[in-house]
Amino acid sequence: MDKLSELEKEVLACTRCNLSETRKNVVFGNGNPGAGIFVIGEAPGFDEDRVGKVFVGKSGQLLDKIFEACNFSRDTHLYISNILKCRPPENRNPGVDEQKACIPYLLKQIDIIDSKIIILLGSVPLKVFFGPDSKITRDRGIWKNYFNRWVMPTYHPSALLRNPNLKIDSWKDFKNIIHKYRELIDPEHYCKYL
Ligand code: URA
Repeated sequence: MDKLSELEKEVLACTRCNLSETRKNVVFGNGNPGAGIFVIGEAPGFDEDRVGKVFVGKSGQLLDKIFEACNFSRDTHLYISNILKCRPPENRNPGVDEQKACIPYLLKQIDIIDSKIIILLGSVPLKVFFGPDSKITRDRGIWKNYFNRWVMPTYHPSALLRNPNLKIDSWKDFKNIIHKYRELIDPEHYCKYL
């Protein structure tokens, strides 16, 4: 079995925190295990918990529109996962103990998939990687470094759904990501908008 499948098998049986008692499904992550871009969200919501796949609800639909505009597909260019692999009841914020239990899985995924670019969606993953003083409104759009990977924090799609005014800055960030993708991975990457 390859390393990612081995890890997935372990995570699907995880009981490290109480969320294992309330989840319907573990949401490990989906996409191309050889992707150039690793996208990190917060935690599965109602729909993801039901289906066992990342970003299949309303936020996911908006994310797909953004990726379509970038000409990035989930099957080819992207691997997507979350800070937590199980849904916190009522979609509350991930608890500190839950994060502590679950983050090692994400770090292993990052290591195995080894993508050059990481996208952090919203303030939960931003704070996990760059500390509690990080602020998504201040830090988004600025490249950061994580063990020689290029990391772009940007708004979570649920924030864009709540406040469509943020879409202008979000699109700036994704254009920036397309440029970086061309620079590091595929100079020929086509996007009809730039
Ligand atoms: N929101 C997230 O952060 N992750 C998902 O998988 C779905 C919604």
